[in-house]
Amino acid sequence: MFRWGKRLRRLLFALSMLVCWFPLTSNAADKFPGLGRPATVAEVAAWDIDVRPDFKGLPAGSGSVAKGQEIWDARCANCHGTFGESNEIFTPIVGGTTKQDIERGRVASLTDPKQPQRTTMMKVATLSSLFDYIYRAMPWNEPRSLTVNETYAVLAHLLNMAEVVPDDFVLSDKTMASVQARMPNRFGMTKSHGLANMRGKPDVHGTACMKDCAEFVQIGSRLPDYARNAHNNLAEQNRGWGPFRGVNTTVAPLAALSASRSVAQGQPSSVVVSDDSVSPAPTGKILYAKHHCAACHGLTNKLVGPSFREVAKRYKGKPEVNAVLEQKIKLGGAGAWGNIPMPPHATIEASDIASLVSWILEGKF
Ligand code: HEC
Ligand code: HEC
Repeated sequence: MFRWGKRLRRLLFALSMLVCWFPLTSNAADKFPGLGRPATVAEVAAWDIDVRPDFKGLPAGSGSVAKGQEIWDARCANCHGTFGESNEIFTPIVGGTTKQDIERGRVASLTDPKQPQRTTMMKVATLSSLFDYIYRAMPWNEPRSLTVNETYAVLAHLLNMAEVVPDDFVLSDKTMASVQARMPNRFGMTKSHGLANMRGKPDVHGTACMKDCAEFVQIGSRLPDYARNAHNNLAEQNRGWGPFRGVNTTVAPLAALSASRSVAQGQPSSVVVSDDSVSPAPTGKILYAKHHCAACHGLTNKLVGPSFREVAKRYKGKPEVNAVLEQKIKLGGAGAWGNIPMPPHATIEASDIASLVSWILEGKF
């Protein structure tokens, strides 16, 4: 019964993909009555935003370095640093490249053991990837909120910080190719280092399982025993917050990965909204998931921001604090719990923010 259910789901998925792929040329809806409807042109356009290395898919538009700086300062710098140098959230974006790299198309510091960190500009070979990624995924807390022109502008500023383009540069669909020819690591991506039997194909490949597939696959990572503590305690060498921390390599490894929960001690217990199917989740908890607060706040554990339990504890018995916290969430800010800022949440309705704050301050997690 279950297996049939799974097959049926796959069949429905395959059919729905057909409907997506041939919205205009086939009358799929007539052939498969009752199964979905053809995607509209606007729906396909909203989904079809990828930009390829040969710039296929690049939308028409433009943006200057100067305009990009305004956007960067307002919407990117709080996480990536004023000059794209911050490693507080993830690896820095700008740094580690030179004029010679731009001429050669290979970044020398990638093989220099003294280089402390690998930045995006050191690694990335294709400018299209940067455009595509920023347009699709950034700012992290508000993906897909940049217009095409804003994306060109902010990318122009990023390239200017990396000294790939001059201060008065305007990046556009027409100028992208000329900048690609100056990307510091443009010749850095090869297929030839893959396993011999890959014959020049990329060294990753996947096979979709269509039969007798595993019901549940736990993805995890493990440090081999011989490597444990080879470079002293990793936990002391990594940042003390965030979902990915160094494990304590001075103690014995965990016996096994648990299937349903996040693993090592001190790690977040995942961002499951409600694992309690008996009683419905309170409104606050639903809003917490809906507005992606869970990306940075655990209920009982510190992530990028403080745990909500800690917040409730600090402000216990101070009713006047509601309005202050509501403003803080709306406008963002740093300093109450450390140097890492909370980004502004300008688009969340005031009533939702008020419900969130009341729920947090109740402290019943
Ligand atoms: C709230 C924090 C935050 C803000 C604001 C933000 N980013 Fe990011 N950015 C991240 C995080 C976290 C990652 C890594 C995400 C991942 O790997 O899944 C990232 C990754 C990136 C990367 C890819 C880095 C790499 O090498 O993989 C680029 C480029 C980038 N951001 C550009 C921007 C730009 C441009 C803006 C402003 C429009 C912006 N970001 C705003 C947090 C942020
Ligand atoms: C990109 C990460 C990020 C996101 C997303 C985020 N926060 Fe924060 N939040 C932080 C950081 C970092 C702090 C600590 C700021 C400080 O030290 O002043 C913080 C602090 C707070 C505080 C305590 C403020 C104070 O002054 O004591 C509250 C309450 C809060 N966040 C609620 C929320 C809510 C509700 C959401 C979802 C709408 C949310 N946060 C989304 C990172 C984030």
